[in-house]
Amino acid sequence: DDFAGEGVWRYAAALPFEEGVSLPEGHTPLHEVPRLKEDVGVNRLRVKHEGMNPTGSFKDRGMTVGVRVAAELGVDRLACASTGNTSAALAAYGARAGMETLVLLPAGKVAAGKVAQASLHDARILEVDGNFDTCLDIVQDLANRGEVYLLNSLNPFRLEGQKTIGFEILEEFRDDYGRFPDRIVLPVGNAGNTSALFKAFRELVAAGAMQPEEVPALTGVQAAGAAPMVEAVENGADEVRRWEEVETRATAIRIGNPVNAPKALPGIRETGGTAVAVDDEAITEAQRDLAREGVGVEPASAASVAGLRKLREQGVVDADEDVVCLTTGHLLKDPDAAYEAGGDPEPVGGSTEAVREHIGAE
Ligand code: F0G
Repeated sequence: DDFAGEGVWRYAAALPFEEGVSLPEGHTPLHEVPRLKEDVGVNRLRVKHEGMNPTGSFKDRGMTVGVRVAAELGVDRLACASTGNTSAALAAYGARAGMETLVLLPAGKVAAGKVAQASLHDARILEVDGNFDTCLDIVQDLANRGEVYLLNSLNPFRLEGQKTIGFEILEEFRDDYGRFPDRIVLPVGNAGNTSALFKAFRELVAAGAMQPEEVPALTGVQAAGAAPMVEAVENGADEVRRWEEVETRATAIRIGNPVNAPKALPGIRETGGTAVAVDDEAITEAQRDLAREGVGVEPASAASVAGLRKLREQGVVDADEDVVCLTTGHLLKDPDAAYEAGGDPEPVGGSTEAVREHIGAE
């Protein structure tokens, strides 16, 4: 309760409670990235860095609400399937609330920082022989049998908290420029954020705080090896076909069955947005681009910038647009990917002479 009214809870009027289980979360930076803006070629570009939340991803915004609900209900055990970040956030917020936490992770496909967090925050970690979608199937079964309380983004209270990403972006952008952004570009896995942002926009329009024509175009980005939403948008389909085989270095969005698609597809369509797939090389390049501006993100996050670049090159995004890219997780989540993209340290002898020689000093 020290944090009542801060961050996510500043928007309590749009949330089911006045306060939550809080660390606290939200109030993340909306970075300027002037060189990247020039390079991509848009009128304005800001980066909303959700990696700056307490456990290093946007998931904290959902958990502060979701775990509060679980505490209210008096459930015995919290659980989620996860590509990593959800498990880290649930473990931390579960620990904060003094509750037992069970997480199911796809074996061998979760970045090191995320497993470390879940472990230290004392979740019970099950490494499942299967991909994320299988883990989610199992957790849903457990929840239906009353064994656990589900805290994946199928839980609507999670998405209530994640709406505040939209509120913060819109508020800060308007404070700085006197208008709302034309477009918000975000990585898509289960499409929870896409759904949450769309709900935030609808509520603002209903409240008269935003005109319908001011609603930003929701633009989803997936990795080419895990792009069922993009497939559905490109085909004009009303349903998303589940991909059984998925692969990408952006393991956070290595997802073949985006469970929030029924809520997210209308969001993309009705806001005049689109969806695009980017390959792993483009993701790595975008991760470097952001890092050169001082903004350290994990691969899935960089997908947003890679997607913007591709859509700009295709002329889908215009040069006169004001754009916000969402970066969803911190660089330290996936140290191995960071080394891969940035290069390894150089071994050198332990003397000034050795170092001088190594760097080619005169
Ligand atoms: N970016 C990151 C860093 C993520 O961890 C996730 C999802 C997404 C984007 C996709 O967001 O599902 O709202 O479309 N990670 C989940 C997890 C699946 O288990 O941590 P979405």
